[in-house]
Amino acid sequence: MFQFPKSLGLAQLPTPIQRLQRFSQNLEGPDIFLKRDDLTGTLLTGNKVRKLDFLLAEAQQKKCDVVITCGGNQSNHARTTAVAAAQLGMKCHLVLKNKANLPSDGNLLIDKLVGASTQYISAEEYKRVDEIMLEAADQLKSEGLSPYIIPEGGSNALGTIGYIKAAEEITLQLQRLKTRIHKIVVAVGSGGTYAGLLIGKYLFDLQAEIYGFNVCDDKNFFTNKIFELIKEIQIQQHLNVKIQKSDINIIDGYVGKGYALSSQAEIDMIKKVAAVEGIVLDPVYTGKAMLGLVDKIKTGVFKHGENILFIHTGGVFGLFPKKSLFF
Ligand SMILES: Cc1ncc(COP(=O)(O)O)c(C=O)c1O
Repeated sequence: MFQFPKSLGLAQLPTPIQRLQRFSQNLEGPDIFLKRDDLTGTLLTGNKVRKLDFLLAEAQQKKCDVVITCGGNQSNHARTTAVAAAQLGMKCHLVLKNKANLPSDGNLLIDKLVGASTQYISAEEYKRVDEIMLEAADQLKSEGLSPYIIPEGGSNALGTIGYIKAAEEITLQLQRLKTRIHKIVVAVGSGGTYAGLLIGKYLFDLQAEIYGFNVCDDKNFFTNKIFELIKEIQIQQHLNVKIQKSDINIIDGYVGKGYALSSQAEIDMIKKVAAVEGIVLDPVYTGKAMLGLVDKIKTGVFKHGENILFIHTGGVFGLFPKKSLFF
């Protein structure tokens, strides 16, 4: 049996699974269920806290007192890291891709409220963000601090274990609910959530195919990235699950206008789910993935008679800077 490393228990778990009855009925396709990972916490909402539970446990074991991470200016991962660090009494330094002087709205407002320091770099500089984080770490060391660096999205081998654990949680919940899920659907931004679920599927015999909708880059990029991540985890955790590249199902075609850019169809989908179910998706990840799912229901990839589990990975704060697009 897989020995999970130490985790901190910051996420409120298990998150519920609920059926989207009215939304599914409207679609006349499969039954859609939601895994409410948007309920992992209020300020800690979303998938990233499951990764941070393992990453920050290691940071504490190593006696680090400042966390460094990176992301876009509305990064959910950066916000979750900043909040978790504050809850643990650690400092947090964020390296953010920013067009300069953006208002403190959404995730950025929370980053600042919980006291994270922010360093803004251009999109060009962001290409060497790992190096820039190392430079920031050197600076903090010279000030007598002990930094712990977390890569973009928390998607390294240790962070990904958060979603291996989520796959175990889902397996146990479905047994309890006596519900069969045929397909799991998740948004893919840095690949860790998908990679963890796929490993967990094999470890815990979760009888469902896992589909990822990429919200940036393309199918080829993520198939390779997820495969490399899976290999890294297998080595680090001495796992031997036989996963081939062909087991990775990435559905491309729903990046829309580009990463973090919203199309009218995506905005309309978020409004529809909110009005019909009282559930708010986010504009960068889950809104795009839900649009993709509904479109693929129309083309028969997801069929009537199947049960689909859509992972709501959070991201609600990303809505606020985009409010003018909605009404
Ligand atoms: C709300 C939300 N959903 C989905 C994702 C994608 O997860 P991953 O980066 O593990 O692919 C992210 C982060 O990138 C996110 O913030």
